[in-house]
Order: sequence, then structure tokens, then C-alpha cells
Amino acid sequence: MQRILVTGALGQIGSELVPALRARYGAEAVVASDIRMMPKNDLFATGPFEFVDCTKAKQIQEVVRRHDIDTIYHLAALLSAVAEEKPQVAWDINMGGLYRILEVARQNRCAVFTPSSIGAFGPGTPRDRTPQDTIQRPNTMYGVTKVAGELLCDYYHKRFGVDTRGVRYPGIISHTAPPGGGTTDYAVDIFYEAVRHGRYICFLGPETSLDMMYMPDAVKAAIEVMEADPARLEHRNAFNVTAMQFTPEELAAEIRKHMPGFTIDYRVDPVRQGIADSWPDSLDDSAAREEWGWTPDYTLPVMTADMLENLKKKLHSAEPVA
Ligand SMILES: NC(=O)c1ccc[n+]([C@@H]2O[C@H](COP(=O)([O-])OP(=O)(O)OC[C@H]3O[C@@H](n4cnc5c(N)ncnc54)[C@H](O)[C@@H]3O)[C@@H](O)[C@H]2O)c1
Repeated sequence: MQRILVTGALGQIGSELVPALRARYGAEAVVASDIRMMPKNDLFATGPFEFVDCTKAKQIQEVVRRHDIDTIYHLAALLSAVAEEKPQVAWDINMGGLYRILEVARQNRCAVFTPSSIGAFGPGTPRDRTPQDTIQRPNTMYGVTKVAGELLCDYYHKRFGVDTRGVRYPGIISHTAPPGGGTTDYAVDIFYEAVRHGRYICFLGPETSLDMMYMPDAVKAAIEVMEADPARLEHRNAFNVTAMQFTPEELAAEIRKHMPGFTIDYRVDPVRQGIADSWPDSLDDSAAREEWGWTPDYTLPVMTADMLENLKKKLHSAEPVA
């Protein structure tokens, strides 16, 4: 029986991964944790919740031992745009946090899932069908911490036998918790603004192509890579995974199929555009497909229809009664 700790659980991914893990392994078996405390959040009502700052080894150790944890989903991190604003803090949280999680995992024989990102690639990486194993020379602090994190996880597996696994997520689209300050956040914001105001001002240029994935596929990837037969894994950490690629222009056209009056304008943010331009246009995820059977369920049209339906319910039910 698994006993799971999720760090950074109140973020965009944790808000949906924790309920999925609780449904699969039992509510009491999944301890959610974060440095934010939001007692009204559903994660507090549906199972154990702990305050854990992942830069503090003692806090991680205490919770891992008290709950007899054997698997850690380590989600706490600063995302790309925030990390560019605060590179020193990003290093402390992304690298310091991961190092401490791996050390506690080594001492307590825990398995560890760590998400890397398309941000682990850089301007020298082949942009189309970016291979699993290729040039990784990112020029952002986020990217530096993601590449170093991938290597550190591989090292802990090889040197100490820690069962480390992970995927390189593309931009994640979801409607439960807001995104945490990444370069692909536009692909979530656009839906909120479409439903609220019927128009959107995009911070990336119309032809910026990036890999994306709908949250149910992101949750599925995390659980499936952790459940994969280790004998089949040639890679361990940082499997390329993707579900779709599109530009802001193409996403707007898809939204217009449901909302014909929807308009999009562009006010390019040079920092986030610079980050996006250094990332691949499309990933080759054949290693994940071959080694643990990865296949996404959601395409651009299916994701768009589902996002709009869910956000209409969420935002309209939140409107004050006149
Ligand atoms: N969301 C995406 O599009 C995306 C894409 C690629 C990779 N990822 C990776 O997935 C992971 C989770 O991303 P997310 O989108 O859920 O992030 P998020 O920003 O939404 O959430 C991160 C959570 O970590 C918490 N946190 C910050 N510092 C902490 C600390 N010191 N100790 C404990 N918790 C702390 C925050 O309070 C927040 O709840 C990250 O490693 C991120 O790099 C995300």
C-alpha cells in the first residue's frame, strides 16, 4: 500500500493531482502539503494536509516519518516567468527544494516524481520534433534549474538507487486552480477572458507555437510513469510528453468555433516572448510511448470544448445574484 506526500499541492497541478491520487489510493494515504495554508480549499477537507516548506529538510523529514511516506510527488517550484523576476529565490526553491526532497527520499527509501518542463530546452535545441535526448542549453533560471534537476534525479537513482521518475511537461491548461506564473499561462487566461468578456489581449505573438496538454492528461502522465514497470524504463526522469501544439492565433480560431464574436489582440511581453522563443515548437514523445505506454486523450478541439463548458459553469455560478 502506497503512502504519498505531495509538495506544492495547492498549485495548478497539485489541485488536480491530489484528488486523483486520493481517488486511486485512498484519501488517508495521500498527504497534501504546501507553504500556503488555505483551510477553505477542498484539499483540506478531503484528506490530510501538512505545512511543508521544501527548502527545510527537517520539515520534510518529520512529515515523511510521521506519515510513513514511501512516495513523494514533488511539485513545489517557481515557474518560468516568476523565476526570471526572482532568479535567486528560484534557485533556492527549485534546486534547494529538490536536493532536500531527494536527500529525505534517500534516507527513507521513498520514490520521487519530479516534473521537468519544456523550459529545460534552450535556443540551441532542435525546435521541431525535439528529441528525448538532445542539446539542453537553456538561457533562463527556470531552465537552468530544470536541467540541473533532471541530472540530479538521474544521479540519485544511479548513485543511491532512489526510484526517481519524471516527465517534461509542456504548458498545462486547466480550469480548477489558476496557473502559477509560467510562459504558457496565456492558454489558460484566454479561456477565462473569453467567457467573461468575449475578448483577450495576448502577451505572446500570434504565431508562437508551443506544446500544450490538458490537465487530465498531465495527471495521467504523473501517475502512469510512477506505476510503470521499472524493467522497461531506459530513461527515468524527464520523459518528453505532449498532447498538442498550437499558436495563440490557432487557439483563438478554435474558441471562435464556440463563440463566433470572440476577439484577440496582441500586446507582446518581451520577457515572456523571449522565453517562449527559446523553447521547442513540438516535442517527440516516442520514448514515453515506447517505455511506459504514454498516449494523451485530449486534442485541441476536445480540450477547448471542455474548458469552455467547465468555465461557463464555474464563472456564471460565481456571479453575484442581482
Ligand atoms: N503548470 C505548468 O504549465 C507546468 C509546465 C511544466 C512544468 N511544470 C512543473 O510542475 C510543477 C508544479 O507546477 P504548478 O503549475 O502546479 O506550479 P504552481 O506555481 O501553480 O504551484 C506551485 C506550488 O508550490 C508552492 N511552493 C512554493 N514554494 C514552496 C516551498 N518552498 N515549499 C513548498 N511549497 C512551495 C506554492 O505555494 C504553490 O502552491 C513545477 O515543478 C513546475 O515547474 C508546470
